[in-house]
Amino acid sequence: MPNDPALFPRNFHQALPVAVRGEGCWLFSADGGKFLDAAGQAAVINIGHGVPEIGRAMAEQSSKLAFAHTSQFHSPPAEKLAARLLSMAPPNFRKGGRVYFTSGGSEAAETAIKLVRQYHLEKGQTARYRVLSRRQSYHGSTLGAMTVSGNLARRAPYQPMLAEWGHIAPCFCYHCPFEKTFPECHLACADDLDSFVAGSDAASAAAFLFEPVVGATLGATVPPVGYLARIAEICRKHGILLVADEVMTGIGRTGRPFAVQHWGIEPDIILCGKGIASGYAPLGAVLVAANVVEAFENGTGAFKHGFTYQAHPVATAAGNAVLDYIESHSLFSRVVPAALSLCNALAPLLSHRYIGDVRGLGLLVGIEILRDKSTHVPFEPSEAVAEKIRAAAMEEGVLVYPTQGCVEGTRGDHILIAPPFIVTPEESGLIATALSSALAKVFPN
Ligand SMILES: Cc1ncc(COP(=O)(O)O)c(C=O)c1O
Repeated sequence: MPNDPALFPRNFHQALPVAVRGEGCWLFSADGGKFLDAAGQAAVINIGHGVPEIGRAMAEQSSKLAFAHTSQFHSPPAEKLAARLLSMAPPNFRKGGRVYFTSGGSEAAETAIKLVRQYHLEKGQTARYRVLSRRQSYHGSTLGAMTVSGNLARRAPYQPMLAEWGHIAPCFCYHCPFEKTFPECHLACADDLDSFVAGSDAASAAAFLFEPVVGATLGATVPPVGYLARIAEICRKHGILLVADEVMTGIGRTGRPFAVQHWGIEPDIILCGKGIASGYAPLGAVLVAANVVEAFENGTGAFKHGFTYQAHPVATAAGNAVLDYIESHSLFSRVVPAALSLCNALAPLLSHRYIGDVRGLGLLVGIEILRDKSTHVPFEPSEAVAEKIRAAAMEEGVLVYPTQGCVEGTRGDHILIAPPFIVTPEESGLIATALSSALAKVFPN
C-alpha cells in the first residue's frame, strides 16, 4: 500500500508498508504482511505489542483527566510512576530523589543538559556548563542532545549549529581506539576522561553523559569490568555530574531495571525513554538523585525549563500499566533466560565468513558484519551492508535495526536485535533462521 502522501516521511526514497496491528512479538501490515519484531522496533517494545490492559488504563485515565498543566497541578499517575521508578533505581535515588517526565529520550537528554547547568549555578559554580560525552554515541535528535551525541553521520548536516563541548574515546574493546587489549590497557579509555577534563578548561566541565551499553551507534557494546567505576571516580574527582543515558538500556532490557546496576555505580542522573511505556505512549524520564535535588531545594527552588506535555497523565498512566504488566508477568526475570536462548540461536551465525561479533547484554544484542574478520576491517559505507541485511531479513518476515559507523564513525556495519521480553525460544530460532537466509541473499558466494 503506498504511503499516505500527506505524511512527511523519514525517507522520500523508501516505500514503507502500513502497520495496522500488533500482537506479542508480531506486527501486521495493511497489505497482509506479518513480521516478527526482532528489534522491538528500536528497542522500544519491552512487553510486546497489543496488550489490551495498557489501552484500557490509558482510556480510563483520559476519560477521568486527560491533561492538567504541571505549572498548576500534579497528577496521581505521574506521582505514582515517579515513586515506582525511584524505588527501582540505585540507592542514591531512593530517598530524596525525584523524577522529571518528558515525552521521549531526546527531551530527557535536553532536560538533563539544562539541569546539570542549573545544578552548578545553584552551587555557585557558574563557570560549569560543558556536558562531555563520547565519540560514537547517540543521545537524541534535538540540538542539545545532538551536541552531546558523537554519532558522526547524524551530526554531519547540523555541525555548524552544534556546540563543541568535547567528546572522549568510546569504550569499545572490539575496535579499541588505542589499539590495546583489556586488561593490559589499564582502561585507557576511562582515563581519557581524566586527561581530557584536565587538559581542556576543567573549570567549565559540568557533567559526563554516557550510555552504559552503547546501543544504536556501537551495536550493544558492553564495557569491561572496572570501566564505569573508574569513570565515576574521575567525575567525582573533577566535581562533575555523572549522567547515565538509559533510554535504550533502562526498564529491564539488560536484565536489571537499570544497566548501571550490573556494575554497582550510582550516577547523579539517569535518563529513560523507549521501554518506559513500551511504545504505548510517548514518554521519557529524568531520574534525579538526592544530592542534585537538594541543590535545587536549597537554592532557587525553581528549574527554569518546561514542556507543555511533561508528566502527561495519560502517558504516565501507560507507564504505570506497563510496570503493572511487567510485575504481574515477572517480565524482568524473563530477560536473562530469553537472552540465553536468543544468543544460543544466534551463535552459529559467527561461523559465517562476514559475521565478526555477536555481543550484548540481556535482550540488547548486536551483530557486527566485517569484510575481514581476522583484521576487523569493515565494509565500505557505500556498500550499505547493514541496510541490505535489514531489507533481506524483512523479506524473510523479520524486522531488525541496522546502523553504520560503529568502527570510527562512518565505517562499520551492525544490526541490533532487541525483541520484547516475551520472545520465545521458537521466535529466537526464527530470527536466527531469517538472518541466515538474509546473509545468504546479501552474500550469495
Ligand atoms: C541512548 C539513547 N538516548 C536517547 C535517544 C533519543 O530518544 P528519542 O528518540 O525517544 O528522542 C535514543 C534513541 O534511539 C537512544 O538510543
